[in-house]
Amino acid sequence: MLVLGIETTCDETSVGVVRDGKEVLSNIVASQIKDHTPWMGVVPEIASRLHLKKITPIVEEALKKANISIEQIDLIAAANRPGLIGGLAVGVSFAKGLSWITDKPFIGINHVEAHLYSPHLTCEIDFPYIGLLASGGHTLIVKGESYTKYDIIGTTIDDAAGEAFDKIAKHYNFGFPGGPALEKIAKEGDVSTFDFPISNLYKTDRKFDVSYSGLKTAVINHLEKYLKKETYTVSDIAASFQKRAFDILLKKIKLATTTFGINTVVVAGGVSANQYLRKLFNENLSAKVFFPELKYATDNGAMIAGFAYHKYKEEGKSPFNTGVFPRVEGFKISLEENYRCR
Ligand code: KG4
Ligand code: ZN
Repeated sequence: MLVLGIETTCDETSVGVVRDGKEVLSNIVASQIKDHTPWMGVVPEIASRLHLKKITPIVEEALKKANISIEQIDLIAAANRPGLIGGLAVGVSFAKGLSWITDKPFIGINHVEAHLYSPHLTCEIDFPYIGLLASGGHTLIVKGESYTKYDIIGTTIDDAAGEAFDKIAKHYNFGFPGGPALEKIAKEGDVSTFDFPISNLYKTDRKFDVSYSGLKTAVINHLEKYLKKETYTVSDIAASFQKRAFDILLKKIKLATTTFGINTVVVAGGVSANQYLRKLFNENLSAKVFFPELKYATDNGAMIAGFAYHKYKEEGKSPFNTGVFPRVEGFKISLEENYRCR
């Protein structure tokens, strides 16, 4: 079965063609990085307009690269949640239009679920697994039962992991996007320079949740101290933060694998591109750890197409009145609801 997957949730217009959920025939990514760099952050309106401009040529390019005509495609998939509403509307409207005129089924895909699928594109992974999804908008820990079924066991109670990287990088002027820029600077630094605070949510009944806002604020507030008394480098700050940020995730994943007796770990989302994270997990978990290939770590159409194949086999197509949703219920919890003083 040939699936066309469209991803427009944030600042990449990406389209992939994948056969049977596994064989990637093409995966074209048009990045908007240079368009958002002057603002050191993604500007939603600019993103929507660029998706609109790029969607047709990128779909054409993906089909051409795959050497597939639109008539040969069996299913048209588009990410319809969560993400920036304008970008989602472009991708989903395009997919529905294409589906209508070609008489092929359309399916709306949760792009976070597709991230968790991304390591499956290139690896054979046993179920159940403990999954970590760390992106710019979400940090989820799940117990995965199949390609499409999972239970959320933990999430962030405030900032996502990638968001902390992005905000710190912006504050310190490390570059855009913040994650890879900070990782590059951290390579020159000493991880043991600072003991930045680590959140302790173990005493609540949601022991797999994480928090990044305290750590992020501590690192941001450190800039003034640094400017007054530069006895260390910004690389030391970046390295110490990065270590702390990933220690938090390592601790929770370790706890999840032992709690559930699961020996397989899947790590996905943009943050999973980080080499320090990969090394830390590989060296400190006794479980087998799977990461996506780097080109499938950040947003991409191939993961949408790959995941859509399994979703469609299980649940069939989506109706044409399927909407777009910037948020997904259950992916984030509110501090007020879950962490009232007990
Ligand atoms: O999955 P993704 O492409 O988009 C979202 O769904 O958010 O993830 C983007 C996030 C951004 O926060 C970006 O800074 C972060 O992933 N990221 C990284 C790295 N590459 C991307 N964070 C840390 N280290 C990296 N190498
Ligand atoms: Zn994403």
